Amino acid sequence: MDTLLRIRNLHVHYLTDFETVKAVNGIDLDIGPGESLGLVGETGAGKTTACRAVMQLIPDPPGLIVDGEILFKGENLIYNTERRNQEIRGNGISMIFQDPMTALNPIMTIGDQLAEVVRTHNPGIGRDEARRKVIEMLEIVGVKADRINDYPHQFSGGMKQRVVITMALLCSPELLIADEPTTALDVTIQAQVLELIKKLRREFNMSLLLVTHDLGIVAEVCDRAAIMYAGEIVEAGTVREVFLETRHPYTKGLFGSIPKLDEDSERLVPIEGMVPNPADLPPGCCFHPRCKEARPECSRQKPGLKGEGHVYKCFY
Ligand SMILES: Nc1ncnc2c1ncn2[C@@H]1O[C@H](COP(=O)(O)OP(=O)(O)OP(=O)(O)O)[C@@H](O)[C@H]1O
Ligand SMILES: [Mg+2]
Repeated sequence: MDTLLRIRNLHVHYLTDFETVKAVNGIDLDIGPGESLGLVGETGAGKTTACRAVMQLIPDPPGLIVDGEILFKGENLIYNTERRNQEIRGNGISMIFQDPMTALNPIMTIGDQLAEVVRTHNPGIGRDEARRKVIEMLEIVGVKADRINDYPHQFSGGMKQRVVITMALLCSPELLIADEPTTALDVTIQAQVLELIKKLRREFNMSLLLVTHDLGIVAEVCDRAAIMYAGEIVEAGTVREVFLETRHPYTKGLFGSIPKLDEDSERLVPIEGMVPNPADLPPGCCFHPRCKEARPECSRQKPGLKGEGHVYKCFY
């Protein structure tokens, strides 16, 4: 497979005065052209950190990429100059953040800020033409042109997220990273925004890295799934493989903790125990303290990645 994004052995730490937070611990990921990958994991698993690393936007300090490769079309972003990475963020990779307000300037009309994006990425383009491009794109994502002179606070959450999506698309990215793009939204609006992302992905033939803790969203939107736990990818494969031929006890646990409408809530089986503290990770398999199937060797040795295509990190 020719890959667009290839991550190998990525390690990211946050170095604070008191401790080293090991947020990402040796992940491998591949995304092909036009492919969509769902990255799933509980809070603190390191999903946002991994995405920010791909964007080369790890806050430094305290963040530091300590090892690994991030290849975008064969180019290692970690060794690039900041200037080159800015170029790639301008027309290769875009990211939609969880909170739309982090991407929007509250004191500029959305028309002005979107036009600025167009003009930054197409120097030489005229003011009117930039505005035309903005209006065209706003209409594609379902924002009416007459809202172009409104400020971000005048938009509802769902509409704001559409504006942020417009901003990401104006760079014509080959890879779109969406970090929990619908978590802050109402359920009905969530569905609309997801539909939109699905439609845009087909229309613009973009690859998608979608972060979520909702397995249903992955099943609906993604070709492949990667399950992240304590900074590691513990299982990855096609959505079919991960959902129907689940290998890792953690993935099984995640499925077990989804409430089913036709069952009593008492029959819900949450995964027992807590997510490990990334500043103090357990020895051996990162999941063994919570694993029902753990055996003595699990606390002594770290399991490597097993399988081909459908991969998982478990001895059994
Ligand atoms: N700037 C920072 N300084 C110190 N620690 C950080 C920083 N940013 C993140 N972390 C820590 O790194 C770990 C991974 O965080 P990250 O935000 O990547 O997780 P996540 O999977 O995106 O979680 P969520 O689902 O809550 O968004 C967490 O333990 C978090 O507290
Ligand atoms: Mg996050």
